[in-house]
Amino acid sequence: MSFLKISNLYKNYGQVEILKDINIEIDKGGFLVLVGPSGCGKSTLLNTIAGLEPITSGEISINGNSVAGLHPSKRDIAMVFQSYALYPNMTVAGNIAFGMEIRGVPKDERDKAIKQVSDILQIGHLLDRKPSQLSGGQRQRVAMGRALVRNPQVFLFDEPLSNLDAKLRVDMRTEIKRLHQRMKTTIVYVTHDQIEAMTLASKIAVLKDGTLQQFGTPAEIYNSPANMFVADFMGSPAMNLLTARLENGEGGLNVMLERPGEKPLALPIKNANGVLGGYSGKEIIFGVRPEALTDPDGADRNARSIAEGECLIEVVEPAGSDTFAVTKLGGKEVVARLRADAAIHAGQKTKLAFNLDKAVFFDPKSQLRIA
Ligand SMILES: Nc1ncnc2c1ncn2[C@@H]1O[C@H](COP(=O)(O)OP(=O)(O)OP(=O)(O)O)[C@@H](O)[C@H]1O
Ligand SMILES: [Mg+2]
Repeated sequence: MSFLKISNLYKNYGQVEILKDINIEIDKGGFLVLVGPSGCGKSTLLNTIAGLEPITSGEISINGNSVAGLHPSKRDIAMVFQSYALYPNMTVAGNIAFGMEIRGVPKDERDKAIKQVSDILQIGHLLDRKPSQLSGGQRQRVAMGRALVRNPQVFLFDEPLSNLDAKLRVDMRTEIKRLHQRMKTTIVYVTHDQIEAMTLASKIAVLKDGTLQQFGTPAEIYNSPANMFVADFMGSPAMNLLTARLENGEGGLNVMLERPGEKPLALPIKNANGVLGGYSGKEIIFGVRPEALTDPDGADRNARSIAEGECLIEVVEPAGSDTFAVTKLGGKEVVARLRADAAIHAGQKTKLAFNLDKAVFFDPKSQLRIA
């Protein structure tokens, strides 16, 4: 049975629909990440789970019980806000223990809890400091410590890492993952960073304009995006989404891609399914991630369907571990991911390998994935 269940949830502010028919459920101990562009409704959804915002219709239940009408303090949830919201006049220890003090937890128990979470978060040496004497990452840990001592049924995190610099973000991301593996508490985590979403989540919910675009495991979202929005949003560099035609040719169905100054590139698809066959003679959107478009030597040896084609390289961008090359197909810039030591330069014509096992196809009108 799912532990946290959100059913047919609508949330309006006045006349404006902010969340529309959201359906999400996760198991106990799951790590749900809500991801989407700014303003899509992530914080609003989190706040409705916490009980900080009333819902317009629908239902939220935790562990089989509806939380409708339950005050936030009765939901057994702890929330970590983006701003940390620490009490500036209290020490770290005071901040961590404050909630327990309010609830009348005896001092020796409070001290034990402070000791326990400060060991986990490695902030034992900071307990007597005030928040103003801490770095961003340390404050973030204190805010987490304050949530951890509550030992709640569900943790809610609203972009907890967005104030940190790039290096610290990555460190804290690993730390949160480790913490979750150890505590096994159910987590709902908001971010607009798709890499954070991929690395932390057991399930991802992708939102856009208040509607759920896709709900699935990170692999499902990455490999089988439900529509062009999800395909474009998840992954960095982004998936190449190219206008192409499907044509029946010698080797079966071909993806035809326009190239500047040459006849179109034809990529024969092996094992094309019937749905795709129905698009023969029509325009489709061909989606290929940069890592599925490589130098022929770098192509996945286990792939069943690889097609090669001459492409004119316009820009070469060495990125250390890989080299990205930009070419033009279907009237758009296309990013290929080559080996770091690929001997390639701008202006050169070279063969690129398309791993068609990894390619996805979208209907240009509905923007939904068809294969
Ligand atoms: N109290 C409010 N009254 C009216 N509209 C609101 C209120 N709070 C949020 N909104 C609107 O609801 C929409 C969703 O806001 P929300 O804060 O949930 O977005 P978000 O996905 O968390 O964005 P961000 O990534 O920028 O934090 C936005 O269009 C916002 O302007
Ligand atoms: Mg927000």
